[in-house]
Amino acid sequence: GLKIVTIGGGSSYTPELVEGFIKRHAELPVKELWLVDIEAGREKLEIVGAMAKRMVKAAGIDCEVHLTLDRREALKDADFVTTQMRVGLLDARVLDERIPLSHGMIGQETNGAGGIFKALRTVPVILAIVEDMKELCPDAWLINFTNPAGMVTEAVLRYGNWDKVVGLCNIPVNAVFEEAEILERNQKELFFQFAGINHLHWHTVTDNKGLNLTDELINRMYGKDASGKSIVANIQDNSYVYEQVENLHMVPCPYHQYYYMTDKMLADELEDFKNNGTRAEKVKQIEAELFDLYKDPELDHKPQQLAERGGARYSDAACEIINSIYNDKRTVMTVSTRNNGTITDLPDESAVEVTCLITGNGPVPFTFGSFEPEIRGLLQLMKSMEELTIKAAVTGNRGTLMQAFTMNPLITSGTVAKEVMDEMLEAHAQHLPQF
Ligand code: G6P
Ligand code: MN
Repeated sequence: GLKIVTIGGGSSYTPELVEGFIKRHAELPVKELWLVDIEAGREKLEIVGAMAKRMVKAAGIDCEVHLTLDRREALKDADFVTTQMRVGLLDARVLDERIPLSHGMIGQETNGAGGIFKALRTVPVILAIVEDMKELCPDAWLINFTNPAGMVTEAVLRYGNWDKVVGLCNIPVNAVFEEAEILERNQKELFFQFAGINHLHWHTVTDNKGLNLTDELINRMYGKDASGKSIVANIQDNSYVYEQVENLHMVPCPYHQYYYMTDKMLADELEDFKNNGTRAEKVKQIEAELFDLYKDPELDHKPQQLAERGGARYSDAACEIINSIYNDKRTVMTVSTRNNGTITDLPDESAVEVTCLITGNGPVPFTFGSFEPEIRGLLQLMKSMEELTIKAAVTGNRGTLMQAFTMNPLITSGTVAKEVMDEMLEAHAQHLPQF
């Protein structure tokens, strides 16, 4: 039987993961699911762990759920390790969002200064997990959803020297679902090809007759009759100045709005902040409500309310990756993986988020080639910024970090960048031993 270990097992997303394993149990016989958390997450782990046990029991499958605070005990002989931990918990995210905003910049979980700091906190932890895996489960695959998922994956490849890693995000999954509907076409007849990096990728869509539907989709999504409806719960709407996207011939992802529509996104964020606080504060509320539900001893299935979280559908995708690797199913999925020439505009060693076949030997990307300048420029800039951020996270070098800050389009360069950097280094000091 298979042994799966989930680090950050006390997360409110865990019921979706459990549901995903239950659904696939005939093909993917998970015998042991180990949910791992840290002392600060003990209460959540116990609540969501009890819920996971009820779910498995109600489904009548042969699977033991273990709860532990001992990561090394859990990792022993694991087949797959999934990571969904949040270093510093939601309190750290509040700082990532608030501090830049207080200096008039976008404050966001994976973008701008907030995203950089989330990487600085997370990279050392993922590398420590990889070191444990080398010793305790050297054949296991690491499926990472911890954000910033692209940078975390690249850190594992470049500095962890660990190839069996897949980075996962729900944006491509959601895009396929929602956009097939917008096109009024059956998902099965469409081929979506994504290329770029995590939270900054573009895609095309063609049908089974070879017809390229991308421009039509851009028109339906962003043209004058578009609804502006978002495909993810954490970003409120989905709109661009039509002239920005009408000749891209690729559909941008929702996170592009931070780069293409910075003025509007900042104004919206400030407005939201006045009324409700930051997204992290909102998420705290949603989480509290979810954990109240999970406490109910009668509840033995994933509640509908989980859809209010931006990451809905990602755990199910994680189960499908594991299933596809385990059974060599060759499912087509978009994941973060080593570039290896898939996008010729980026270094081979980079993590890229691209459409792949998920084989028994891991993701095999579909060749993409090169981008036109309107995409290439931003992509190369952002990948270089990521490279510097990862390097700063590993070395603790402030000069390298300052270079990442200077390059990031969402951070105003100069004295203010240095101020925000210093303020955040101090605010997060507890989780940044490398600095
Ligand atoms: C998105 C992203 C995830 C992110 C989530 C945030 O859909 O793909 O990477 O974690 O939203 O959602 P939240 O509910 O935490 O704001
Ligand atoms: Mn994501």
